[in-house]
Amino acid sequence: MKIVVTGGLGYIGSHTVVELQLLGYEVIIIDNCSNSSTEVLKGITAITGVTPHFEEFDLRDLAKIQDFFKRHTDIAGLIHFAASKAVSESVEDPLLYYENNVTTLIYVLKELQKLKNAAFIFSSSCTVYGQAENLPITENTPIKSSKSPYGKTKQIGEEIIKDTCKISNAINAISLRYFNPIGAHPSAEIGELPLGVPVNLVPFITQTALGLREELAVFGDDYPTKDGTAIRDYIHVVDLAKAHIIALEHLLNNKNKSNYEVFNIGSGTGTSVLQVIKTFEKITNRPLNYKIVARRKGDITTAYADTSKANITLGWTAESSLEEALENAWKWEQKIRKA
Ligand code: UD1
Repeated sequence: MKIVVTGGLGYIGSHTVVELQLLGYEVIIIDNCSNSSTEVLKGITAITGVTPHFEEFDLRDLAKIQDFFKRHTDIAGLIHFAASKAVSESVEDPLLYYENNVTTLIYVLKELQKLKNAAFIFSSSCTVYGQAENLPITENTPIKSSKSPYGKTKQIGEEIIKDTCKISNAINAISLRYFNPIGAHPSAEIGELPLGVPVNLVPFITQTALGLREELAVFGDDYPTKDGTAIRDYIHVVDLAKAHIIALEHLLNNKNKSNYEVFNIGSGTGTSVLQVIKTFEKITNRPLNYKIVARRKGDITTAYADTSKANITLGWTAESSLEEALENAWKWEQKIRKA
């Protein structure tokens, strides 16, 4: 079965391609390499023994998408990762985010609609909930208008898919709302490759541990939490990748009750920034250079998922521990800096 993975050279995309290929799916990656590299293909090949078909083009180019779908009429499903994802950049350049994340989604859906019964999986984010009133966060937790254009593109994206599914029998879709993906493939063949200074916590920790960054800044210890630092739900990227396959198969096997569904994908556990640091120090057996600084603007206090809907309906559960995720992230960081 042929599955298209847009953004398949990126962090979550590449791990999903690996899981698809391990199950025998024929994968076609579309990526514009704006935040990724074709080197990732080597890692995917090393793990799976198969080099996926790869087409380099930008999804903002409608003619290229149309040409792609003319050449591939036997697509069973499409997993749509291709998007920009930096919150602060989206505030600086909102039109770039609306064009990259919303326009491209519309183009892809327009072509997908022409196929029969195509399965569509969308990368959404727990960012759609903002700071939830009640925890853990379920899929029924109210959506709050996002403060960043990045967050808004995820909210708008979900609405676009929902409205399209209402009138179209041609598409069956699932939005997966990811909590905080971390870690790397246990083989250390693929992982996260942040450009420049990392924004996210775990790549900043591994780069600091390796001496690439002098010090980790912990953004705030005056939150109303146990140790004062903010709480997130960290999920191993391989567990997250597997959730995509299970969601895809849910649609391909016609197990879906409605042609549009939404699922939280997280570990279900809330972990503070200091707990992440302590766990990392235990794994590496050395202290991490960090200091407490002021809160980061726009950060929320606490977010963690109720994943029972995905557990029960999809039969998916996160399997890896925080320790494993951090161990894999550390192994990956050491490997890429040696190369
Ligand atoms: C961020 C994005 C979110 C996006 C997600 C993708 C923001 C405000 N949110 O989530 O929209 O979906 O990435 O992965 O950018 N921290 C530090 N020091 C650091 C880095 C982070 O203390 O150098 C803290 C943060 O304050 C936060 C936690 O670590 O409490 C996790 O941060 P991060 O990895 O950036 O993820 P989010 O902010 O949850």
